[in-house]
Amino acid sequence: MVEAPGVQRGLEDVVALESRICFIDGLQGRLIYQGYDIRDLAAQSNFEEVAYLLWYGRLPTAAQLAELRERFGLLRALPPSLVDRIESMPPESNPMDVLRTAVSALALFEPEEAKPGASSIGGAQRLTAALPTIIGTFHRRRAGLPPLRARPELSQAAYLVYALVDRDPTELEARAIDVALILHADHELNASTFAARVTASTLSDLYSAVTSAVGTLKGPLHGGANERVMELLNEIGTTELAEAIIQEKLARHERIMGFGHRVYKVEDPRATILREWSRQIGEAKGNMRYFELLRKVEAVVHREKGLYPNVDLYSGSIYSLLGIAHDLFTPIFASSRVAGWTAHVLEEYQDLRLIRPTAKYVGPTDLTYEPIAARG
Ligand code: CMC
Repeated sequence: MVEAPGVQRGLEDVVALESRICFIDGLQGRLIYQGYDIRDLAAQSNFEEVAYLLWYGRLPTAAQLAELRERFGLLRALPPSLVDRIESMPPESNPMDVLRTAVSALALFEPEEAKPGASSIGGAQRLTAALPTIIGTFHRRRAGLPPLRARPELSQAAYLVYALVDRDPTELEARAIDVALILHADHELNASTFAARVTASTLSDLYSAVTSAVGTLKGPLHGGANERVMELLNEIGTTELAEAIIQEKLARHERIMGFGHRVYKVEDPRATILREWSRQIGEAKGNMRYFELLRKVEAVVHREKGLYPNVDLYSGSIYSLLGIAHDLFTPIFASSRVAGWTAHVLEEYQDLRLIRPTAKYVGPTDLTYEPIAARG
């Protein structure tokens, strides 16, 4: 569609607010959380530390980190009647719909945390601790797995694996998931974070903002892309067919999921790190099929369209090799991004300005109202 003068479709390149939380250098392929390069955080940090960093703007001391870990352990359990509600949702439901509904319902049980404009970090911690439990509760019921326990001794990454596949991860698996959680935790004004900030900017509450964000993340142009990548790999099947199938899709002007980005003009640094983890997990499992297929798809898409992979290209191959169901990939994304969403909502409350852009009206203005009896 041609852009009308004065209209920035998709708000592309519009600078909507100031933020200290996250910086993306789309030309250099750099991603910074509160001043720290994502490559350093992925190599040395862990999800709990990154969540603390996003909320407080500084890295925790050992005591602060231990306290946060303890809080996550305590905050994982859901109110029993919410567990009942989640377990009675239709088993064929989309897990992102379950997540959106359950986040919204959780607010009913926590009126203090869900007060409009509450600036407490308690709600942020509660939601971050609770999301894996919501997804795990739903999945375990539909898969016939035993009920979930809070397992306070587990990190968020290890708890997520236990919740979704009912076994403790190996050290390597736990580290791979921890890195994936670090990399997904924030990404400036991506669509779901923007949705959360728009909601918060009306002085609505944190739980409403996160509900908006979950609904926005679900779409395939955003968090839903990681699930579609695995569908694509299953459709392609073998590396020999990759070239022809991708060519056909491109000829039909289809989008290849896991490629392209609104901000990065070079490779997404998160894709670079996840590619290496996909290789490592593939080697550890003795199954390089996904990795090889993805490398082939990457080569064709780059050659034909000049597009680079984004964060969603390699994540699903890691989750699949751990035995995680495909429709849980986007909920895993949400379990990490909730740290960023809540950090942005808290920042919005600190520097509040109603987010309300305008539209260029292109319809008529001088129609004459006809009584219904006179309309043909
Ligand atoms: N496959 C094929 N063509 C593409 C793709 C793709 N993945 N991405 C962009 N293009 C083409 C697009 O068709 C257009 O071509 P033309 O100018 O000939 O019409 C050109 O590149 C520019 O695309 P655009 O839609 O104007 O770019 P955008 O900034 O709006 O798109 C995007 C960003 C992420 C929506 C898009 O790249 C896309 O649809 N990618 C696939 C979905 C995906 O992987 N999403 C995850 C994004 S990163 C993580 C996240 O946010 O969740």
